[in-house]
Amino acid sequence: MQIFVTGGAGFIGSAYVRALLQDEYAGAAGASVTVLDLLSYSGNRDNLPVSDPRLRFVQGDISDSDLLRELLPGHDAVVHFAAESHVDRSISGAMPFVTTNVLGTQALLDAARETGVGRFVHVSTDEVYGSIDEGSWTETWPLAPNSPYAASKAGSDLMALAAHRTHGMDVVVTRCSNNYGEYQFPEKVIPLFVTNLMDGKQIPLYGDGGNIRDWLHVSDHCRGIQAVLEKGRAGEVYNIGGGTELTNRELTERLLEACGAGWDMVRPVADRKGHDRRYSLDITKISEELGYAPQVTVEEGLAATVAWYRDNRAWWEPLKSRAGL
Ligand SMILES: NC(=O)c1ccc[n+]([C@@H]2O[C@H](COP(=O)([O-])OP(=O)(O)OC[C@H]3O[C@@H](n4cnc5c(N)ncnc54)[C@H](O)[C@@H]3O)[C@@H](O)[C@H]2O)c1
Repeated sequence: MQIFVTGGAGFIGSAYVRALLQDEYAGAAGASVTVLDLLSYSGNRDNLPVSDPRLRFVQGDISDSDLLRELLPGHDAVVHFAAESHVDRSISGAMPFVTTNVLGTQALLDAARETGVGRFVHVSTDEVYGSIDEGSWTETWPLAPNSPYAASKAGSDLMALAAHRTHGMDVVVTRCSNNYGEYQFPEKVIPLFVTNLMDGKQIPLYGDGGNIRDWLHVSDHCRGIQAVLEKGRAGEVYNIGGGTELTNRELTERLLEACGAGWDMVRPVADRKGHDRRYSLDITKISEELGYAPQVTVEEGLAATVAWYRDNRAWWEPLKSRAGL
């Protein structure tokens, strides 16, 4: 089996590629992998093995149709992670989000169709649903994205589904909740807070800290993606979640405790513009159809993540300094 992974040098894409190469998924044992990644600020070649006979790494843009037509033939599946992924960056400048997330995804869909690639898994997000005060979103919920990031992901998510309905492409879409784990770029809340605390620096807490997120370990997200790749029905959407819902204050409390710090290290800051209050996914469909269930509890996942950042300062310190964090 040959799998084409876009954004495979980023946080989630690299976790998926490492799991593939370590044969963690029985259905893809021995698979070879092509990674296409632009190595934007959040992409890092060091997130992947230096050399592995089953891995081919290509630095390039998913919007480069000529490159895609050269690389894609012969692959059985595309798993599409590449994106501009940080909400705060989309608030200060939305254009790269439209360029990569919407136009880049369309270039990839077109090239995959023209070159006869088999299955196309589009990795989307729960943020496309907007915000929900009570209850949980099922896959048929209307999309009502609020941030430019979420809107651009909704655009690509719908273009992927349109490629199935219009051209009969074998497309499946996943919508996942907030991920955490090792190798996450230190601008995101968990690694930012943990690494700040390790350096004795304060951590910025948005607004009243009451925003609620469902935290899922990255390995559970990747397992869900693999289940969808292997067994999902073409043209369908699958929510992936089932982690633990925490307010930002509760998450902060756990991270302070894990790092041996107190609330004096927390600096309240003005709320993020248009900050979604709560995300919550109903995962009945993927659980019942594909037998998915998350395996990592938030207690063990957060402990392992904090330990990883403690042991891997050489990975994150230069990234923070380059990004001015
Ligand atoms: N992080 C989360 O909590 C979360 C939750 C649900 C869904 N997602 C989705 O999962 C995917 C991966 O997210 P992540 O957190 O790993 O992001 P990330 O920012 O860590 O990784 C994105 C990767 O895409 C690459 N990239 C960016 N633009 C590119 C382009 N034009 N061509 C080729 N490569 C390009 C980057 O170099 C980077 O390696 C995204 O599609 C995101 O929307 C993320």
